[in-house]
Amino acid sequence: MLNLVVLISGGGSNLRALLEATRNPDFPARIVAIGADREAEGFSHAEAFGVPIFTVPFSSYPDRDAWGAALLEAMEPWKADLVVLSGFMRLLPGAVAQALSPHCINTHPAYLPEFPGAHAVRDAIRAGATRSGASVIVVDDGVDTGPILAQERVPVLAGDGEAELHDRIKMVERRLLEQVVRDIAEGTLDLEKVSTP
Ligand code: GRF
Repeated sequence: MLNLVVLISGGGSNLRALLEATRNPDFPARIVAIGADREAEGFSHAEAFGVPIFTVPFSSYPDRDAWGAALLEAMEPWKADLVVLSGFMRLLPGAVAQALSPHCINTHPAYLPEFPGAHAVRDAIRAGATRSGASVIVVDDGVDTGPILAQERVPVLAGDGEAELHDRIKMVERRLLEQVVRDIAEGTLDLEKVSTP
């Protein structure tokens, strides 16, 4: 059984989908704790599933490195095999990315390397893209630059606003994330062997 710690910042709808996947007795991973950099709305899903939570508020630390050290300390007791960033809206300090590497993955609402960064869905619409996508990557110390584990195209439809497109992308993100977690847990995907493209 692969033990996951999931980090969120917002509503946690992708987290919710992963929690639901773990209900299936055949699913080879479980979420042992859910953390956030703020009092995230998505903690309600943790409560619904009886999963412990922890918060490491960014604003409580003098700088990013101090916050990162506190985040690592808060995760340590859970002995996670894999850390999943699921709508976690803070860039991990390099030392944290390196400490977790390669056992930390992130979902991203674009077809990387297209549209990296925090506003990927808005950027795709503003660029007039006719298709965007969803990606699951290994976290490295760059901004959405790590090795790509899974990705799929999502069309941008006429009249799509940011919310509509993001909702459709998230449906794909959830499926990709569930599959990647399953593959890691079953050993068909070995993060140690995934190299930077
Ligand atoms: C997802 O699209 C994720 O890739 C992005 O933020 C969104 C999280 O949504 N970084 P939610 O909090 O799971 O609803």
